[in-house]
Amino acid sequence: MRQRIIAGNWKLNKTITEAIELVVLLKRENFGMNPPVVVVCPVFTAITEVSEQCAGSGIKVGGQNLYWEEKGAFTGEVSGSLLKDAGCEYVIIGHSERRQFFGETDDSVNLKVKSALTQTLLPIICCGEVLEEREGNLTNQILDRHIRGAFKGVSAEDAARTVIAYEPVWAIGTGKVATPEQAQDAHAFIRNILVELYSDEVASAVPILYGGSVKPENALEILKKPDVDGALVGGASLKAGDFAGIIRASSEAGA
Ligand code: 13P
Repeated sequence: MRQRIIAGNWKLNKTITEAIELVVLLKRENFGMNPPVVVVCPVFTAITEVSEQCAGSGIKVGGQNLYWEEKGAFTGEVSGSLLKDAGCEYVIIGHSERRQFFGETDDSVNLKVKSALTQTLLPIICCGEVLEEREGNLTNQILDRHIRGAFKGVSAEDAARTVIAYEPVWAIGTGKVATPEQAQDAHAFIRNILVELYSDEVASAVPILYGGSVKPENALEILKKPDVDGALVGGASLKAGDFAGIIRASSEAGA
């Protein structure tokens, strides 16, 4: 059975002190009877302290981006090996904000995915359509491009170690969550691409998370869908009580 994962993408928020405070509060929360894997993704500058604070708690830490070269003259970049050094086990790759504001392409996402896997970091690979694409019935075409692009040249063995996040861009930070059916359809479509690219075995091993305005109030209905294995949470991951509510919804949705 594949793992359920609830990951918090803190984006560009929280000082080191605030980040530690959030983890301290999170550790006091009840995660329910069937807790998922819980991951928090702070800004680079807070990763070391957050990792120290999470040690022994079961809460895992992820980066929000990485560069594919390990070291050298690449001013301003951070590599997978440095993320591991700071305590990360996961890394978000190809978030729509990076595609939109920082020029990420399917090719750069692919290089980053391969680099993360080489460094034994677990990549959380983001995909998803913008509003015009959904309205133009292009959602599946976009998902096809994002997934095939991200996995180009990735072996089946490595693919089985990845996590995918379906994040419809129109649902990110808008309060406009996808319906459970829209999420299920997209997730089933993505899983089917993995069957075509690899095998049933790989496709059923990869957790597919939903992201976009997930809140404690709407999480359970989405997480109950068979191909929704967790959530990548933005705004609601910045408050311990809200994030824990989503974690408990996952726990309620099943082991
Ligand atoms: P919100 O939960 O704030 O909509 O953000 C989703 C997201 O982008 C997570 O990566």
